[in-house]
Amino acid sequence: MVDFQSVLNGIGITATKATDRGRIASYIPELEKIDLQKFGIHLINIKQHSFSSGDSDERFSIQSISKVFTLSMALGLIGEKLWERVDVEPSGDPFNHLSLLEMENGIPRNPLINPGAIVVADILVSILDNPKDDFLAFIRNLADDDSINYDEEVAQSEKMTGYRNYAAANLLKSYKNLTNDVDSVLDFYFHQCSISMSCAQLANAFYMFINNGNCRRNNTQLSKGQVKRINALMLTCGFYDEAGEFAFEVGLPGKSGVGGGIVALLPNEFCVATWSPGLNEKGNSKLGMLALERLTTQTELSIF
Ligand code: DON
Repeated sequence: MVDFQSVLNGIGITATKATDRGRIASYIPELEKIDLQKFGIHLINIKQHSFSSGDSDERFSIQSISKVFTLSMALGLIGEKLWERVDVEPSGDPFNHLSLLEMENGIPRNPLINPGAIVVADILVSILDNPKDDFLAFIRNLADDDSINYDEEVAQSEKMTGYRNYAAANLLKSYKNLTNDVDSVLDFYFHQCSISMSCAQLANAFYMFINNGNCRRNNTQLSKGQVKRINALMLTCGFYDEAGEFAFEVGLPGKSGVGGGIVALLPNEFCVATWSPGLNEKGNSKLGMLALERLTTQTELSIF
């Protein structure tokens, strides 16, 4: 049996001492207020035993990690039809790049880059009666935690400065790959990114990706095949132009966010969430990546 707690304790001690912690995302002004010294990690295994270290119960902005939740909800609702509007190839580009979108006639490379996530948001806005309420209920059910909520200040902060997302949505609209109006889709998108969750809540919500689509409340959200596909997308596209590096160093499917969170998982074994708000040059949490490399190296547990 792997002693996860002592591995996490060691990771926590190293993180506390780290001097180069990366830089906090500044293009969403509200995120800049976060303390660079924060670090948390929480792991839940398939038997639902939990292990943690540091600021693992403190909530932060999940940002792009929300793209995995919207993708899961949309795939559960419309199934394979989703792939008519968004592809499944890694982009090798930063999350907010637009040039490929124009070259490929408005079909985003994958659902985890911003244009792809905006298409997925459009699908949910079309289908759901009360998109924001219904999506929040979906996440609360996954995490088995009804206290999870949007952060209105973060959502408004991004609405004021999200120029590239407005550009992406308008480009999608010009290619007829956006059904609803730009403002209502982006209102939903900025809200999904603003959701506040702790490492513990994120690891709990991702439990279904290690448990064949059954969440902690033991209701089935996705089929085995759908979970396989989402895990594959996390591996190949979850870290944008650093997906190769993450697979090389860590060896797990995962997803990052510019709030400094990363969630990663080993199917049938464990999922783990880390939080450290300082990012590297590619926009992924610097200490989070180091922590996960250490976790999979020390435990010898990875998909490879
Ligand atoms: O749309 C944006 O730019 C942000 N709301 C989310 C970007 C993000 O988290 C990229 N992840 N590493």
